[in-house]
Amino acid sequence: MEKTSDIAGFYKLSQEDRIKVLADFMGIERESIPLPDSPRPLPLENSIGYYPINFGVANYFLIDRKDYFIPMATEEPSVVAAASNGAKMARSGGGFKTGAGEQLMLAQVVLEDPKMDLNLAEFIDEINKIVESEMPSIVAAGGGLKDWQTEKVDKYLTVKLWVDVADSMGANALDRLAESVAPIFESATGGRALLKVLSNRADRRLAWAETSIPFDAIGGESVARSIQEATEFAFINEDRAVTHNKGIMNGVIALATATGNDTRAIEAAAHSYACRGGRYKPLSKWKVEGGLLRGRIDLPVPVGVIGGGVKSNELAAFSLKLLQVKRAVDLGRVMAAVGLAQNLAALRALVTEGIQKGHMKLAARTVAMTAGATGDLIDRVADKMVQEGIIRVDIAKKILEELRG
Ligand code: MEV
Repeated sequence: MEKTSDIAGFYKLSQEDRIKVLADFMGIERESIPLPDSPRPLPLENSIGYYPINFGVANYFLIDRKDYFIPMATEEPSVVAAASNGAKMARSGGGFKTGAGEQLMLAQVVLEDPKMDLNLAEFIDEINKIVESEMPSIVAAGGGLKDWQTEKVDKYLTVKLWVDVADSMGANALDRLAESVAPIFESATGGRALLKVLSNRADRRLAWAETSIPFDAIGGESVARSIQEATEFAFINEDRAVTHNKGIMNGVIALATATGNDTRAIEAAAHSYACRGGRYKPLSKWKVEGGLLRGRIDLPVPVGVIGGGVKSNELAAFSLKLLQVKRAVDLGRVMAAVGLAQNLAALRALVTEGIQKGHMKLAARTVAMTAGATGDLIDRVADKMVQEGIIRVDIAKKILEELRG
C-alpha cells in the first residue's frame, strides 16, 4: 500500500507514536531516528522532539563603551569566530557607537471597494481607546499609537497605523489591533476589510551602529581602501549587495535566534529596507576618512525582549541576561553592532586571504573531532590537515595516531 501523510488525527498522537509513524513511512527502525526530547516542550503542532543548534558567544564587543559577550545560535561554524574577529578590530578604534530613532511598527487594514472617503482623524480617539484596552502593558511602558495615514492604490484604501510597541516585537499586538479596528473602517467607508495585519516593513524601527578603525588593526591602509572599494562595488552591483547583506545577517540572525526573536521578520524587514529607493543596496557602508576606516550600518530591528519567543525558551532569557539588555531598543542597537562586526570580518577576509582559509580551519576542527580528537589535539590535528591541504576523517585519524605516538 502507498505510504501517505494523509493521517487524520496525526496531531493527536503521542510524540513517540508520531515518530514511529515516521519510521514506518521512511522504512527505517525507530531507534535510528536521532531525536532528543525537548527539555521544555513548546506547544508546537505535530512536535517530534527537539532540534539542537550550536550556541556560542562572540567576544571583544565594546558597544557604547560597555563590554558584551554576544550570544549566537547558528548552524554556520564560522559565524561566531568572524563576529569576534570583527569586534576585535573595531575595539582598537574604541568599539561601536550605536543609536536608534523612533521605534514604530505598522498595522495595515486594507479596504476593498470603499464607497466613501475616510477622514481618519475623526476616528483616532476611538482607535486610541482600543489601543489602551488591547495592549495595556505596551501603553504602560510608554508605547501606543503614534502616527497614521491612509493610502489609495487601485480599488484599495489602506489604513496605516504606526504603533510604538515598547519592548515587544509587536506582531501579535498589531495583528489584534488591526482586526479590532477594521469594523470601524468598514462601516465608515462601506468597503470590505480584505486584510488586517501587521506589516513587516519596520522602516520606522531602525537602529544604527558606527565604528572607526585605525589602519593598523585591519592590516594597513591598502586593506582599508579595498574594504571601501568592496562596499562601493556592492552599491553598483546587486549580485554582490545580496551577499554583502547575507554576511551581515549571519550575525544578526544568530543573535536573534539566541534571544528567541522572529528571525523571518528581521530578514523580511532588512531586505525590504535594502530595497528602499527601488534598488537593492548594501545595508552598511565603509569608507576611508581622516586616516581611519569608518563603517556604518542602518538596520530595521523588529525585535522584542518580552513575549512568546523569549518566555518559552529559557536560553533566550539567559541570552538577554548575558547581554544585560532590558529594552527592545537596546537589543536592536546591539544587533546593529553585531551586523557591522560580522560584515567587517567578512570584507576583511574577502579582500585579503579569502574566506576559504578560515572556513577550512573550522571544517578541519570538525573533522578532527569526528576522528576522535579531544582537547588541544583538536587544533593540532586540524592545523596539520590545513598545512597538508586535505581535510578528511581518515587523514585526521592517521595524524591523531601519530600525535598520540
Ligand atoms: C558567508 O556566509 C558570508 C559571506 O559570503 C559574506 C560576504 O561575502 O560579505 C562571507
